[in-house]
Amino acid sequence: MSVTVLVGSQWGDEGKGKMIDYLAPDMDLVVRFQGGDNAGHTVINDNGVFKLHLIPSGVFEEDCISLIGTGTVVNPSVLLEEIQSIEDAGVSTDNLKISSRAQILMPFHQELDALMEEQGGIGTTKRGIGICYAFKDLRKNLRFEDLLDEEELVKKIKEFLPVINSFLRVYEAPELDEDEVIKICLDWRDKLKDRIVNQHELIHDYIKKDKNILFEGQLAAMKDIDLGIYPYVTSSNPIAAYAAVSGGFPAKDIDEVIGVAKAFSSAVGAGPFPTESDDEQFNIIRGDGQNPDDEFGARTGRSRRLGWFDAPIVKYTNEINGYDALALCKLDKLDELDKIKICTGYTLDGKELSTIPTTSELERVEPIYEEMPGWLESTTKIRSIEDLPQKAQDYIRRIEELTDTKIKYVGVGPSRDEMAT
Ligand code: GDP
Ligand code: IMO
Ligand code: MG
Repeated sequence: MSVTVLVGSQWGDEGKGKMIDYLAPDMDLVVRFQGGDNAGHTVINDNGVFKLHLIPSGVFEEDCISLIGTGTVVNPSVLLEEIQSIEDAGVSTDNLKISSRAQILMPFHQELDALMEEQGGIGTTKRGIGICYAFKDLRKNLRFEDLLDEEELVKKIKEFLPVINSFLRVYEAPELDEDEVIKICLDWRDKLKDRIVNQHELIHDYIKKDKNILFEGQLAAMKDIDLGIYPYVTSSNPIAAYAAVSGGFPAKDIDEVIGVAKAFSSAVGAGPFPTESDDEQFNIIRGDGQNPDDEFGARTGRSRRLGWFDAPIVKYTNEINGYDALALCKLDKLDELDKIKICTGYTLDGKELSTIPTTSELERVEPIYEEMPGWLESTTKIRSIEDLPQKAQDYIRRIEELTDTKIKYVGVGPSRDEMAT
């Protein structure tokens, strides 16, 4: 039996989609376990170039089940569009399933997200994620199981709408009409009912049968609602333990945790980002958005904030997740840099810190940098870590030392096969 959990180790967009796609051929089940269509997971393989938002990045493997898990918030209209776009590219979605306990993200969640952001937000993706999780906690959401029982569905809609409308009134947004909501839900039911499954039964059956299960995290620990840079975070727990929490199986059954890091740092949205740099070299790395691996948000198209590799951050998220292996993506993007900086620690008001401080203190820290020489040669054709230029190997080893991790995968290009191991 093998249960693997793959999570982001920095601020999101580390290359999780590529890694899941790379690992998927050995998997029987891939489960997206939190988040919603705020995700943009880029997959580039023989089928084409894809930016996946809700559909697990294992969907390209015909024999593998792709499950949108219990911990997610799912906008059915976005999902239906995504299914269509994948099928238009000639990829079957027959094995795409949705947990009956996944939350349904409604249009008004998205509307409220946008309205709140207008009042001075944190730079969300405006996909309604935070609002949907808030209404989940208020116990005023529908779940996919509700679509399968029309009587129960109508009862819940009648129960929830007065509360929801009272929120909409505060924001002077149009109130919801009961019949209209029922109609939309029944349409979603007709289109999605055959994909709704009992996740508990499926996961435990697969665990008993010694099948390979891969849990796909969205975003990263620095954007975790509890452990990240609150309030500049998402509204779920993008950490390894949450795969077990939402998966409904014992945490001790996780066999391997893989963290994914970029060889530098990037972030979208507001909040502290200690190693953010306006060095001209990052504009070259960012590109102009023409290439699928240019540094623009896969969901929102926003230009990503870029900076040097921040070892204290990855060390902190390793303490949270316990990486058995680290995948270091986008090493090739540093191929042309003659000098590369690594942040090895921070000072705050002149004193060196030994841990990650509060969010407002993190805004004020001064990074301590170490400079390493660049390797100044192309790595894109290299498939073994041992064959990488010595200076690239030195960079990798230094990151391992500083973060207490073992780097087992090195991304040297955006496609599935561009990987050194
Ligand atoms: P995710 O959200 O963690 O799945 O990451 P994104 O897909 O949002 O962002 C990662 C970006 O890096 C995408 O544009 C990928 O195509 C690209 N990428 C991933 N790994 C590599 C790599 O090793 N080299 C290069 N050049 N690009 C990569
Ligand atoms: P993947 O899975 C990068 C950021 C937003 C904002 C914060 C909260 O591709 O790594 P939300 O819409 O979740 O309420 O926004 O989180 N954010 C992401 N940043 N990659 C993502 O997903 C993100 N999903 C949300 O920019 O700062
Ligand atoms: Mg992304």
